[in-house]
Amino acid sequence: MKEFQITILPGDGIGPEVAGAAARVAEAAVDGLDVRLRFETALIGGAAIDACGEPLPAETVAACQAADAVFLGAVGGPKWDDPSSKVRPEQGLLGIRKALGLFANLRPVRPFPETAAGSPLKPELLEGVDIVFVRELTGGIYFGEKTRDADRATDLCVYTVAEIERVVRVACELARSRKGRLTSVDKANVLETSRLWRSVSSRVVAEEFPDVQLEHLLVDAMAMHLLSRPASFDVVVTENMFGDILTDEASMLAGSLGLLPSASLGAGGRGLFEPIHGSAPDIAGQDRANPYGAILSAALMLRTSLGLEEAAQRIESAVAAALADGVLTADLCAGGRPARGTREVTDAVVERLGVAARRV
Ligand code: IPM
Ligand code: MG
Repeated sequence: MKEFQITILPGDGIGPEVAGAAARVAEAAVDGLDVRLRFETALIGGAAIDACGEPLPAETVAACQAADAVFLGAVGGPKWDDPSSKVRPEQGLLGIRKALGLFANLRPVRPFPETAAGSPLKPELLEGVDIVFVRELTGGIYFGEKTRDADRATDLCVYTVAEIERVVRVACELARSRKGRLTSVDKANVLETSRLWRSVSSRVVAEEFPDVQLEHLLVDAMAMHLLSRPASFDVVVTENMFGDILTDEASMLAGSLGLLPSASLGAGGRGLFEPIHGSAPDIAGQDRANPYGAILSAALMLRTSLGLEEAAQRIESAVAAALADGVLTADLCAGGRPARGTREVTDAVVERLGVAARRV
């Protein structure tokens, strides 16, 4: 029997609810596969600040380093939003991405037929949309030096050639396994880091991936093209902050931010998996959170870090089946369909896993 150690970082707001749903589905999905998942939870974000005064305790980093995969719920909330405070929950998330060297953040966007109604875009524009964003995750303005005094603040944006090369390579490999098209997004008409990004990405593709078809787009134009021709994109690679912004925009193609999963990967096999939505403190603890993004992130975890393709496919099929049967949370409900709670959605997915799954 193969055993895998998974560190769960529930975090704040709806994080614990959706992480619990994902763990439950993952465990049920490996039923009968001669695989055992061992879960351990650790503190991050506001919950860690409350418990020990810092958003990323050393024990949490150690637990993640010792694991085969890490699953994160969400971090942040109004309780820790005091602008004068030097500790913030988000530092926990940024810190664990950096500590584990997770430089490539994969965010697939593929609308399900049943959730397209939730999108503000016309249905004909959504037909055939299947994009994977590859967001650089450990560099850029997020991690550059910051200064603040009474009347001035700065955030430095830094990229090295090596940082750009490695994330572009991940995107190229992915493009190769899909339709072979790569869109690189930058702001090369204004930013020096973007001019470097453009020249390095052009070189990597020309020298190492001549079979990949590369287009460069400026980020402002990309924001528009994402709405006017979303089906024309295959793999999109971009720097940290542009990727943060564009993937929230792209979630509207899928119908709800609550549906999108993500995988953050580094050089080794261990990844961190999380839904792209935030902690939604306004609905926390009410059994109203959409767990689909977290459940689909669990599928990415089983596939990418644990090599359990069959279990990953079970989850993705079960999610598609639950959505097809109209099992929708409030954020997905259009046309007056009844909204289901987090637990009910999770039960519905477990029931549709196609295995005689034991209740966990
Ligand atoms: C995301 C989030 C985070 C980010 C926040 C919570 C720090 O928005 O994962 O997209 O900006 O990276
Ligand atoms: Mg974001």
